[in-house]
Amino acid sequence: MKDFYPLKVSQIEKVTQDCSVITFDVPVQLHKKFEFKQGQYLTLKTTIDEDEIRRSYSLCSSPLDKQWKVGIKKIEGGKFSSFANEVLEVGDTLDVMPPDGKFYVEVDPNQKRNYAAFAAGSGITPIYSIIKTHLQAEPNSTFKLFFVNQTTASIILKEELEALKNMYMGRFEIFYFLTKERRSVGLFNGRIDEEKLDIIFKTICITNLIDHYFICGPEAMIHLIDENLKDRDVSKEQIHFELFGISTDASSEQKMVLKNRFGDKQCDVTIIEGGIGVDFSMQQGSNNILDEALVNAADLPFACKGGVCATCKAKVLEGEVKMLLNYGLEDDEVEQGYILTCQSIPVSEKLVVDFDV
Ligand code: FES
Repeated sequence: MKDFYPLKVSQIEKVTQDCSVITFDVPVQLHKKFEFKQGQYLTLKTTIDEDEIRRSYSLCSSPLDKQWKVGIKKIEGGKFSSFANEVLEVGDTLDVMPPDGKFYVEVDPNQKRNYAAFAAGSGITPIYSIIKTHLQAEPNSTFKLFFVNQTTASIILKEELEALKNMYMGRFEIFYFLTKERRSVGLFNGRIDEEKLDIIFKTICITNLIDHYFICGPEAMIHLIDENLKDRDVSKEQIHFELFGISTDASSEQKMVLKNRFGDKQCDVTIIEGGIGVDFSMQQGSNNILDEALVNAADLPFACKGGVCATCKAKVLEGEVKMLLNYGLEDDEVEQGYILTCQSIPVSEKLVVDFDV
């Protein structure tokens, strides 16, 4: 299981009015553990008002720079993001889990690839890491970035992106879309929609010339672009996206259905972690296994609790669950019996779940 390590904050840069880039000082003896791929994220943990809060933030630095930086945008009512932007200071220590995530393709200096990326707001953080790394490590590859923001002043990492554009002229193009400022070319006003995608994929970014697509932003934008690309015969393997802060509306509805169907029955659960078994009983069709196990004193790994990061992955050895959301497991993993415990609700009388396999 991945542990947390206390890391000192060595720098805090305010990159826009409501976004800070935090740099961590990773001691040399932890460099191996904290090695990362472009596009991966760190999970941070701290205690705020006596509540333990964990949040995952994408690394916005390149692994080639051997720097660990995350961009944290303040969200209205967001406990951790407000703390990071208003309270956290250089010299403070946060608990940090080593990098994780699948939002990347391997760098290959011998390949000549064309990449395209779509980002909105703070969704630029992993995308910036990906762009910088591929441009630097693959001398023949190109990148096109389609980046949506409200105003010019709210563009996160703008200076860094412009510097990359100057450094890799001819290999890196940026197309900014603004939703609250008017620009002379109509295409670049407002959010990305079907009509704009049609123009983009027919003129600026011809789909059969692009090898990989990276998308990071609101869930609706990701689904729109993902579906649009699939309709243009772009394969699943070429489309990569990162989802954080996903909506839970669909899962709330599913929860209600499960509760009505199974809620009057009990399930005897055994959790195996670190070779030790923890037994408890819970209502079928009610809570997820992870939350219930944490209440019953099992010490289990988790980060996003949103079905994205797969930190809470485990294998069902006996019994049955219904998984509400799954953005973290591949189809073959699900077929082999792996589940995201933060999203899995028991629907059988007995359930054995193993975190060690
Ligand atoms: S904790 Fe992230 S998927 Fe369960």
